[in-house]
Amino acid sequence: KILILDFGSQVTQLIARRVREAHVYCEVHPCDVSDDWVRAYAADGLLKGVILSGSHASVYEETTDKAPQAVFELGVPVLGICYGMQTMAQQLGGKVEGGHKREFGYAEVRARGHTELLRDIADFTTPEGHGMLKVWMSHGDKVTELPPGFKLMASTDSCPIAGMADEVRRFYAVQFHPEVTHTVQGRALLERFVLNICGTQPDWVMRDHIAEAVEAIRAQVGSEEVILGLSGGVDSSVAAALIHRAIGDQLTCVFVDHGLLRLNEGDMVMDMFAGKLHAKVIRVDASELFLRELAGVSDPEQKRKIIGRLFVDVFKAEAEKLKASGQGHRGATFLAQGTIYPDVIESGGAKSKKAVTIKSHHNVGGLPEQLGLKLLEPLRDLFKDEVRELGVALGLPHDMVYRHPFPGPGLGVRILGEVKKEYADLLRRADAIFIEELRAAVDPASGKSWYDLTSQAFTVFLPVKSVGVMGDGRTYDYVVALRAVQTSDFMTADWAELPYSLLKRVSGRIINEVRGINRVTYDVSSKPPATIEWE
Ligand code: XMP
Repeated sequence: KILILDFGSQVTQLIARRVREAHVYCEVHPCDVSDDWVRAYAADGLLKGVILSGSHASVYEETTDKAPQAVFELGVPVLGICYGMQTMAQQLGGKVEGGHKREFGYAEVRARGHTELLRDIADFTTPEGHGMLKVWMSHGDKVTELPPGFKLMASTDSCPIAGMADEVRRFYAVQFHPEVTHTVQGRALLERFVLNICGTQPDWVMRDHIAEAVEAIRAQVGSEEVILGLSGGVDSSVAAALIHRAIGDQLTCVFVDHGLLRLNEGDMVMDMFAGKLHAKVIRVDASELFLRELAGVSDPEQKRKIIGRLFVDVFKAEAEKLKASGQGHRGATFLAQGTIYPDVIESGGAKSKKAVTIKSHHNVGGLPEQLGLKLLEPLRDLFKDEVRELGVALGLPHDMVYRHPFPGPGLGVRILGEVKKEYADLLRRADAIFIEELRAAVDPASGKSWYDLTSQAFTVFLPVKSVGVMGDGRTYDYVVALRAVQTSDFMTADWAELPYSLLKRVSGRIINEVRGINRVTYDVSSKPPATIEWE
């Protein structure tokens, strides 16, 4: 296994992810663990290497965090990254100085000397024959003097010591970040370290993660009970399946149907979890309550707040009912959530907070405090694609796990203005047609369906009427907009260039099959300045 010591960088979990991608088991622990802890951790002989992460500290913030000195005395390879390199240099007798200017972003690094870590790894070679790496840098301080026993491994114009190595002790360090994808050879470099230099076996698979996670959940929960809000989305579904695997009937899922779900979604969720997995699931049909409270409200933020508040109310009431019923249930002491790593960064892990709320996203914040429950978040170290892989390994259907994201407020933000049941019913049917056609349409160039080629696709209901003609008659009906975007992070997005033939088929079917809609438009706005959802 590999130990990653975290100095607080926002990208530490990316290091873990890259190590897992190399099929090697790793654990992230805080950098301030003691020497004794480190020695005990390594005592079973399974530890094959240590990685010291970067730090969030900038030139404006001093940090004096150090790695436990024992790390350098275990006899295993150590890789320092960014701040990890600086502390390695300092602790082993080199020198670090405050940089006068902060280096941030793209850089080209020249490989110096021959080291095992960088051997044959380069993006291009200069006419003089130097191997060059395209990397991502982010640092203020820099190493100005190599510690004894180290040689220069890499440099840039502004950072003469951008990498160093002591190949006898197998200590390596780089000032740049190999864990981010902007560093083109980053993955190769990290693989070289964990596989070749540390000598680990690439035999870790997601199935092993299930076993580890199951053990961890059992240890945390003991004989207590857990309650989970199942939404039908990927994250809560995978969390539910994983926790159910670990503790079976100690888990109760509460599925709040707010009446703003997609066509047949509620039945599908019940079929999967109650039917196939035999999990305890309580379905609460709260659609009337939601529609009643939303009546007459057309402001998007207000709609979101109402939906969020009602969700919490309904969930809370259900949790209390469960406790009172005493039917083999002593009441939950844990609230499970499908929080994944990007959520952790977004809500608190990160220091900088966006100044303005564009849209208030997280609909269930504050729930654990209000209910007086402890949190169980078994997915908090995983990235979305890892969560999906885990879902498949747990036996969830591929289509469910690879579904596009669906916002918590559901169709509530896809019906512009006031939400009405009539609108929701029309929208559900139109949207189901759009999604069905996207799944069926295969792009010949890639062999993939247009559903898989888009990151998110859905239909938006516009509460305006336009005139049409059908048969011999005049129609005066509603309009829908189709939205399909491609994005890697949902922060920016391009509208998808769907084939006209596909748009034509979708439009034809919606207008013919959904009485009440007589016009279909396609949204050709990118984000920014538009957002993905319309509200
Ligand atoms: P926007 O519309 O801000 O959406 O470009 C970016 C992504 O976030 C999703 N989204 C939400 N998800 N609760 C959620 O759980 C919300 O209130 C919410 N609003 C937007 C949206 O579907 C897209 O994937």
